[in-house]
Amino acid sequence: MTEMSRRHALTLFAAVGGAAGLGAPVRALSGDPIYEAFQANARNDPWTLGVRDAPASGFDGEARRLHGRLPRGLSGTLYRNGPGRYSRQDWRYRHWFDGDGFLQAWQLDGNRIAHRGRFIETSKWQAEEAAGRFLTPAFGSMPPDAGGLTGPDDMNVANTSVMMLNGELLALWEGGSAWSLDADTLQARGPRRWGSGLDGVHFSAHPKVEPETDIVWNFGQDAHGGRLVLWKIGPDGTLLDAGLVDEIGTGMIHDFIITERSLVFLVGNLHHERLRLPFLDGFAWRGDVPMTAIAIDKNDWSQRRSWDLPPGFLFHFGGGWEERDGTIRLDAALSPNADVILEDVRDIMRGVPWAGNSRMQLVTLGARGHFRIETPGDGLAEFPQVDPRYTGKRRQYTWHVDWTPDQARGATAIARRNVLTGAFDHYDHGPGVYVEEPLFIPASRRSAEGEGWIVHTALNAEARATELHVFDALNLSAGPQASWRLPYACPFGFHGCWRG
Ligand SMILES: [Fe+2]
Repeated sequence: MTEMSRRHALTLFAAVGGAAGLGAPVRALSGDPIYEAFQANARNDPWTLGVRDAPASGFDGEARRLHGRLPRGLSGTLYRNGPGRYSRQDWRYRHWFDGDGFLQAWQLDGNRIAHRGRFIETSKWQAEEAAGRFLTPAFGSMPPDAGGLTGPDDMNVANTSVMMLNGELLALWEGGSAWSLDADTLQARGPRRWGSGLDGVHFSAHPKVEPETDIVWNFGQDAHGGRLVLWKIGPDGTLLDAGLVDEIGTGMIHDFIITERSLVFLVGNLHHERLRLPFLDGFAWRGDVPMTAIAIDKNDWSQRRSWDLPPGFLFHFGGGWEERDGTIRLDAALSPNADVILEDVRDIMRGVPWAGNSRMQLVTLGARGHFRIETPGDGLAEFPQVDPRYTGKRRQYTWHVDWTPDQARGATAIARRNVLTGAFDHYDHGPGVYVEEPLFIPASRRSAEGEGWIVHTALNAEARATELHVFDALNLSAGPQASWRLPYACPFGFHGCWRG
C-alpha cells in the first residue's frame, strides 16, 4: 500500500471516530419500554429464546442425538457468530445488529457433538462488563449516557461472521477491525492488525477466498464518503495490498462477489445522508435513484464498469462468475425496500419475529451495459451459501433459508436452487423450528460440486432448545440424515464457518 493510500485509509478511520461528537447523551429513563415489551413477549412466545441475552459465562454442553448418525468424513468444528447480549441495567438495544458477539463452536467428533458458546471479549465487552452498563453508541441504538468514541473499535461488537485464516479464527464485523481469537479456546487476542496505519479500518464480514490461490479478498465501506477500502490478503494471513476506491456511492454495502477478473458490488438504495449517531439513523431510503452494480478490475482497481439497476436493497449474494465476453452472472437475496433493516430488525428487539421480504434473484450484467433480472421462485430467501470451491466460478447450486410470504414468524425451511436450470429442492421442518444459515461442507477435496453435506442449526421453540441438522446437500427433500439437540436454547446467529 502506498503512503498516499495509507493516509487516505487513516482519514477513513478518523471520519468514523469523528462521529463521536455528534450524539447528544440520552439520559436513562425509568422503565425502558423496549425492555418491558420484550419481557412481556418473552413470557408468551418461545421464539424469543433466540433473541434473549446469553449467560455471561457462556455455554458448555453436549448435544443429544435425536436420530441418524453423523456421516463418515464429517468431523470438525462448526463455528457460528451472532449477537448474544442485548440488555444491561434493564435497558435493551433497539436493533438486533447491536448485540455483543457470541461465538459458538459445535465440535462434531465421531458420533458425539460437544458445544461451547463464549462472548467475544472485545474492548467494548470488557469495559461494559466491568462497568455493568452499556458505555458506547451502537450501530442502531444510543444507550443511556453513552460516551464518545475514539475510533470504530470502541463500539466493535465482532458479531456478524467468523472465518479461519491460516489457523487463526477471526470474528468479523463491518464497522471496524476483525477480532482475532484462539480457534481452540475461543479466547480473544485483540483486533487483527494488518499493517501500520490500518488499525480500525473497516474490514467487512463477508471476505471471499479464491479457490486456486487461497487469496482472500475483502472490502470495508465508508458509506458517508462514498468510498471503499479494498483488502487483498495472502493465504498465510499477510497483507498483499490495501487501498481506497472513490465514487462508489453512499448506499449501504454488506456483501460482494468475486469473479475470476472482478470484484462486484451492488450499491443499494439505503443511502448514508448525514453523519449522526446511532450510525443507522444517518441512512435514508432513496427510491429516486438507481441501484448501481460496480465491477472493479482485480488487477487494476482504477478500472471499473457500472450498470444502473432498479432500486433495491440486499444483504447477501449467493455467488457469481464472469463469462468470457465479460458478462457477469450473479444471484442475490434482493428486497424491493429496506424495511428489514429499518423496521423488522427493530421489532425483533421487542420480541416480535421478523417477516422479511427478500427473494433469490438472478442478475445478468451484460458486457455492453445492459442487464437482466430474473426471479426463479415464489418463496422468500436469505442466508444464501455456495460450495466454497466454486467461489467466483460458474456453478450450479445455491443453498438458502426459505420461507413463504404468509409465514411472518421466521423461516422454517432450507432450500437448494440450481441457478442454471431453476430446479428446486427443499425441506420444511414445520412450525416452530426456526432455521439458521445452511452451510455447505464438501465430502472431500475431489468431490463434485454439491457432493457433501448441509449443516444448519435451528431453534426448536416447543423443545426450548437449539438443534443441529445434517442433510445430504444434493437431496434436502429426503430430510435430515441426523439431528441433535442441546439441553438449552442459544441466541440466533448470523453466519458461520467450518474447520475440518
Ligand atoms: Fe451477512
